[in-house]
Amino acid sequence: MTIMPTKVFESDTVQTMTLDGVPVTFAQGETILEVAERHGKEIPTLCHDSRLDPMGACRTCLVEISGWRRLSPSCATKAEAGMEVETESDRIDRHRKGLLALYAADHPAEVAVTNGRPNELVAMIARYAAPTDWGHLESQRDDRPGDVNPYVGFDAEACIACARCVRYCDEVEAVSAISLANRGSYTTIATVDSLGLLDTTCEMCGGCIDVCPTGAMHEKMPLAALAKPEPDLEKVRTTCNYCGVGCQMDLNVDRDLNDGRGKVVKVTSPPPGTTTNDGNLCVKGRFAYEFLDSHERIMTPLVRSADGQLVDASWEEALRRAADGLRGVAERHGPDALGFISSSRCTVEENYLVQKMARAVFRTNNVHQCAAT
Ligand code: SF4
Ligand code: SF4
Ligand code: FES
Repeated sequence: MTIMPTKVFESDTVQTMTLDGVPVTFAQGETILEVAERHGKEIPTLCHDSRLDPMGACRTCLVEISGWRRLSPSCATKAEAGMEVETESDRIDRHRKGLLALYAADHPAEVAVTNGRPNELVAMIARYAAPTDWGHLESQRDDRPGDVNPYVGFDAEACIACARCVRYCDEVEAVSAISLANRGSYTTIATVDSLGLLDTTCEMCGGCIDVCPTGAMHEKMPLAALAKPEPDLEKVRTTCNYCGVGCQMDLNVDRDLNDGRGKVVKVTSPPPGTTTNDGNLCVKGRFAYEFLDSHERIMTPLVRSADGQLVDASWEEALRRAADGLRGVAERHGPDALGFISSSRCTVEENYLVQKMARAVFRTNNVHQCAAT
């Protein structure tokens, strides 16, 4: 099931404008970018995120509006009745190529490979065939080399000051642990007094990593583990079991590790607007996956032997012992001597099965779930 983000329109009035010569409808309050996306037009963006207020910072989404002297950012310009908008033209192409060439001159090319995640800017430079021979500028932006937190790294040289990370931290997380600092080519992403993130209000949600279009904000653990770049990993969709919210997450699996059994080397969120968590994860969901390979994990069922010690058993044996025990209580003391307690960490389907087993198999309504208290 696809859940689209709820768009709150200023009014339900549907109006008409022209997009690349074709009349299209829009609701008042929609931006040109939103109207274009709804009508299947692809406009490149870097600073845009459907969860955030538009900022118009990166200028990659500029469009031509008839009668307007300058190209305008489609992400931050509201559609108006009668507007005539072109999303592709020679003028737009010239602008994009020049803009992307300037970004390229200020961007380390190796970032696309070394930080292990896709780089939207590098992909965009290739897609629009922007020149990459305009020389290279030395970055003036301050890093935070003393930040020893284990999860979120910041590579100032790769930052394009789009402020997606800062806006996400403020508008979605309501934390404001990071901020744009300084001006011009010195603009960087800073913390108060350059503190490490663990000494700030940061909740280590990792959302700043997820929204960063260049990998300037990046995940440290896959880098330390020398994991393959994200595009080479297999994504396996699953439900987080750390709490009852039911966030969807993608396990990024390297199938070549663990003697071919595969290994999770990163967790990412499905894109915004596609699942109930709308592209967000918390610190546990995103970073606490190393337990999967812990040697302390129980790999086989355990049952008590005659001397009371837990010993390995087959699934058949363990299930038989559990069934015998439950049946024995019901026979000796009646079904209401049994009680079944489930967990909010289970999926709704698993909770359904627990109550079904209690009611249909053991004939008792003694069934509860921790989220109900
Ligand atoms: S990890 Fe989350 S809380 Fe911390 S700086 Fe990034 S977005 Fe903000
Ligand atoms: S760190 Fe990434 S998301 Fe933040 S401003 Fe720089 S490029 Fe944008
Ligand atoms: S996406 Fe519109 S200005 Fe960046």
